[in-house]
Amino acid sequence: MKTVIKPDRAALGAASARHGAELLRQAIKARGQANIIVATGSSQFETLEALAREPDIRWDRVTAFHLDEYVGLPITHPASFRLYLWQRFVKNLPLPLATFHYVNGDAPDPQAECRRLGSLIKEKPIDVAFIGIGENGHVAFNDPPADFETREPYLTVTLDDACRRQQLGEGWFPTFNDVPRQAISMSPRQILASRSIVCTAPDQRKAEAVRNTVEGPVTPNVPASILQSHEQCTLFLDQAAASMLRSHA
Ligand code: GLP
Repeated sequence: MKTVIKPDRAALGAASARHGAELLRQAIKARGQANIIVATGSSQFETLEALAREPDIRWDRVTAFHLDEYVGLPITHPASFRLYLWQRFVKNLPLPLATFHYVNGDAPDPQAECRRLGSLIKEKPIDVAFIGIGENGHVAFNDPPADFETREPYLTVTLDDACRRQQLGEGWFPTFNDVPRQAISMSPRQILASRSIVCTAPDQRKAEAVRNTVEGPVTPNVPASILQSHEQCTLFLDQAAASMLRSHA
């Protein structure tokens, strides 16, 4: 895992988008099309905004997969990640995507929804995964202890209190009880199967999770630590998120 530290969130967003865009152009040039994973959450705000403005990307040759979504939350809810992806990314692209495979969090059978998405992603090796790291060290909605063994591409997961408090703290829900307890999430192994990973983690709130991810052991108790084992993973930080790294002292 390579770490890039930028002075602030805006610079982090610009740098991660530039890097991801270059990987995308290369994939399209090599194979005529590309497949990506798109995450949500506040860590992706600047990256997705800048990525949509990157020039010379044939978005009509790009298939995108949605990383994770709450179970039971309608698309009309302000915290819906499908709504987020439409408003903050898809509608801003200069060309329509080939396809966007959204996670339908209010599908009547979440397990069946996992199987549906799983069979779609098995056909589409991912070129670039855009992801974040949660305050509790999660990747996607794989809270600690994460399942590092499962080969299922998508899982139903139970959200822990730290994850639900983060969502409340960021203002997505009026009360703690309103934050859903279940989600559909891409599995750690499926994320790791991507050719390249562009991981962004801004803010002081993430400093401890970032230190554990980069400098701690690879353990399900710090789900993002699994990124250490990926050859083409770049972690983009701002100064605040990097502030607890030994190498930064
Ligand atoms: C979130 C999102 C993920 C994201 C991760 C970290 O809660 N569901 O898509 O990758 O967890 O991001 P953030 O801390 O910005 O929420």
